[in-house]
Amino acid sequence: MAGLSAMQHPYVSVEGVTRAYPGHVVFRDLWFGVNRGEFVCLVGHSGCGKTTVLNILAGLDAPDAGGVIVDGQEIRGPSLDRAVIFQGHALMPWMTAEQNVVFALSCRHPRWGKARLRDAAREALDKVGLGQAADRRPAMLSGGMKQRVGIARALALDPKMLLMDEPFSALDALTRSALQDEVARLVAEANQTAFMITHDVDEAILLADRILLMTNGPDARIAETVVNTLAKPRNRATLHKLPGYHALRDHILEFLLTRSRTLAGTRPPGWDPTSPPEVRPAEAPLPVAAQ
Ligand SMILES: Nc1ncnc2c1ncn2[C@@H]1O[C@H](COP(=O)(O)OP(=O)(O)OP(=O)(O)O)[C@@H](O)[C@H]1O
Ligand SMILES: [Mg+2]
Repeated sequence: MAGLSAMQHPYVSVEGVTRAYPGHVVFRDLWFGVNRGEFVCLVGHSGCGKTTVLNILAGLDAPDAGGVIVDGQEIRGPSLDRAVIFQGHALMPWMTAEQNVVFALSCRHPRWGKARLRDAAREALDKVGLGQAADRRPAMLSGGMKQRVGIARALALDPKMLLMDEPFSALDALTRSALQDEVARLVAEANQTAFMITHDVDEAILLADRILLMTNGPDARIAETVVNTLAKPRNRATLHKLPGYHALRDHILEFLLTRSRTLAGTRPPGWDPTSPPEVRPAEAPLPVAAQ
């Protein structure tokens, strides 16, 4: 693997990662970093390889070339240092909300006693507004409540990196925006390093510090990095009033509607995968100039 010294790595460093199936290169030579406390979103069309990227970051899948370094250590497999919130809630149905969180915490802290685990789980559930529902099993919780338990469980682990794969896409619009605001608040409070995949442009604009735009597959690449300079804290109700919001949104939509397709499978002359163009539409709208 191309070696940067440990001092030069961002907190999370994806270095030259390639994943291919027989006869099908999903993506090739991906390079990007996530700084400590930063929130990065990956946006791209269905099938371009977003979940594959996330699975590699989680250690659930391995790259065919390149590697991922988190806090100075190369990823070798799954770890509780990297908590995942999936699209489905992935709770254990026979356990209550509290028991689900306690179970994850007991794996993370095998020496903690019952009372300590229970207190930590209660605190995590309180933070997502589920203190009253701690004793309910998943079947007795709404879809939004189940996702909240998943968020509580992930954040209770105090992971080095929080990974989310379209965590709100199965929820109705109102529940989704409430949970988006909640994740924005909780991640900011914990200064949590986060990586999220989403199809929802407003969700990316609400949450991300940087948005990676991925071309369609096969042979996908990150065509550019959009820096989100919109003022924080942000919330769904007022997001569209922030100066620069429309330029940023138009830029991402234009990529998804046009350039994700026209750039698919291409590498422009002089293309440097280690530093895709950085665009700041909120300050200087660049609708189509960047590659
Ligand atoms: N086990 C596998 N064997 C063969 N091909 C696979 C396998 N897993 C994924 N792929 C292919 O890799 C590509 C990327 O899949 P991936 O699930 O990462 O896409 P995605 O961007 O997350 O899509 P979506 O937005 O629909 O979730 C797809 O073309 C998919 O068919
Ligand atoms: Mg996916």
